[in-house]
Amino acid sequence: MAPLLLFSLLALGLSLRPLAATPSPASPIVVDDDLRRLCSHTSFPDMCLRSLSAKPECNSTNPKAVAGLSIRVAAEAAAAAAAFVSDHLNVAATNETRLWQCLDDCSDFLEDAVEQLDDATVAADVGALDDAHAFLTAAIADADTCDQGCGKKVEAAVTAPATEEVVQALAGATEEFRKFCKISISLTTLSLDANVKI
Ligand SMILES: *[C@@H]1O[C@H](CO)[C@@H](O)[C@H](O)[C@H]1NC(C)=O
Ligand SMILES: *[C@@H]1O[C@H](CO)[C@@H](O)[C@H](O)[C@H]1NC(C)=O
Repeated sequence: MAPLLLFSLLALGLSLRPLAATPSPASPIVVDDDLRRLCSHTSFPDMCLRSLSAKPECNSTNPKAVAGLSIRVAAEAAAAAAAFVSDHLNVAATNETRLWQCLDDCSDFLEDAVEQLDDATVAADVGALDDAHAFLTAAIADADTCDQGCGKKVEAAVTAPATEEVVQALAGATEEFRKFCKISISLTTLSLDANVKI
């Protein structure tokens, strides 16, 4: 019995060792000078560095791949905003018509934004900088239109206690999405415009 117990404890100790060696989740940023340099050319360097370094596939020595990845990160942010909207569509559907209507509209705009980003990815892949920028700018315009529809006017018109919270959370989600699009605009410029020195 005793040898078996000892063996079990040893086995447990051995199997725990690799776990203890993994870095704590509190410090996920691996300092990567190439990525830091690229992100320093964007308007939101910290956000750029944090989001891209979280992607295991990020190849920071390849600016074009980084730009492509940043568009995907923007698409994920748009999808997250769209998911937030559809969650709240169900809740708002019952009686808050103004809120429901603006969320329904936002849902369409955010879906369009995701499509614009798909097109931006293709354009960036083939090196069509102007096209990539046009698609990213169109995606930003979708976020703007969503905000205008679901902003202060709705907050003022709908008195249900949850409305303010929903409107502000949505504004936060579209703002984050907009920032990622702007990061992508800078990174595509860096990687595709031969006149820009990184
Ligand atoms: C990263 O990109 C560089 C430059 O394009 C390339 O040489 C390298 O093979 C890539 N590394 C990986 C892991 O894909
Ligand atoms: C909608 O219903 C909820 C829950 O019944 C209520 O709290 C809220 O005030 C209602 N909103 C409107 C605009 O009537």
